[in-house]
Amino acid sequence: MTAAARRLVLTQRPKPGLVPHDSFRIEDGPVPEPGPGEFRVRIEVISLDPAMRGWINDGRSYVAPVPVGGTMRAYAAGHVEQSNNAGYKAGDAVQGLFGAQTHAISSGERVVKINTTLAPLERWVGGLGMPGWTAYFGLLEVGLPKAGETVVVSAAAGAVGSIVGQIAKIKGCRAVGIAGGPEKCRYVVETLGFDACVDYKTGNLAADLKAACPNGIDVNFENVGGDILDTILLQMNTFGRIAVCGLISGYTATTMPEGPRNLRAVLTQRLRMQGLIVFDWEKRIPEAIAQLGAWHKEGHLTIREDVRTGGLDKFVDTLNLLYTSGNNGKLVLKV
Ligand SMILES: NC(=O)c1ccc[n+]([C@@H]2O[C@H](COP(=O)([O-])OP(=O)(O)OC[C@H]3O[C@@H](n4cnc5c(N)ncnc54)[C@H](OP(=O)(O)O)[C@@H]3O)[C@@H](O)[C@H]2O)c1
Repeated sequence: MTAAARRLVLTQRPKPGLVPHDSFRIEDGPVPEPGPGEFRVRIEVISLDPAMRGWINDGRSYVAPVPVGGTMRAYAAGHVEQSNNAGYKAGDAVQGLFGAQTHAISSGERVVKINTTLAPLERWVGGLGMPGWTAYFGLLEVGLPKAGETVVVSAAAGAVGSIVGQIAKIKGCRAVGIAGGPEKCRYVVETLGFDACVDYKTGNLAADLKAACPNGIDVNFENVGGDILDTILLQMNTFGRIAVCGLISGYTATTMPEGPRNLRAVLTQRLRMQGLIVFDWEKRIPEAIAQLGAWHKEGHLTIREDVRTGGLDKFVDTLNLLYTSGNNGKLVLKV
């Protein structure tokens, strides 16, 4: 047995703010052997997700916190190396919640076999993976967009937001993104095909959003929260829908974020505001993969990854890019 496996272990719960280096250590160990009914995956790419900051906090959430001393939770993709499971053979490409490590043992639970002739491994933890499923179910099942309506999505150049706007276009809506900086906004309009994108960093969000949404906003797919959500609330049309997917502006806040100041709009405009967690559609993941894959193959869905190198040693620095607008597309780390 060779000492060639590495895993990222949570050492302590961080204080509020960006993820500190001393929250993790890397543990080296032997490559694990699969037991009966199990297989071993050699992980090649790890998905870095904004939710990771919440997963290492204590407190009530939609999943249990990563335990101190445990391997960091992470979506990842790689190839099966050795298998005692009839459903999986060496060489199969797979994706799942394998953790931030080089080798994972799995029984096949919540594992998705992936087709690397359609797209590379990293895309299967991005636009064709969990962020894509989130955009697909969140927009269509919670946002309920109708052709001709205006859909606004924040963090529009990112993993989830980029897919949301493109699905809105496929469904015949006006798609308006909100993103940070002229380069990201140009990408959202010129490459992704949104109708408009507003740069929230200019300090002119309310007026620019109004100009981009002359008929008001029917669906808001909220990825950011804070001032952006407050501004959108005042421009929602009567009976509009707000799908609360994420509130990233508060994830690394060091003081308690202010609540939405303009909640009165929910009352006066009879808005429906609903949170969503992608796990709620676990049983329908094959549907999302089939539809996103078909759109991608037909050229209707542009997907971009920001693939970083450096392995587990670079996990913390790379993860923090998400909270400082440092990523361009789905953030992925090679291990
Ligand atoms: N509910 C679910 O099941 C689920 C699943 C997946 C993701 N999510 C949520 O979806 C959102 C997007 O996730 P993602 O994976 O697609 O990440 P992403 O958009 O690829 O990357 C995060 C982006 O958020 C923006 N951002 C960060 N801090 C900000 C701030 N203070 N104000 C405004 N924008 C800020 C940055 O874009 P700019 O450069 O444009 O500022 C950054 O690039 C997150 O809130 C995440 O928690 C939810």
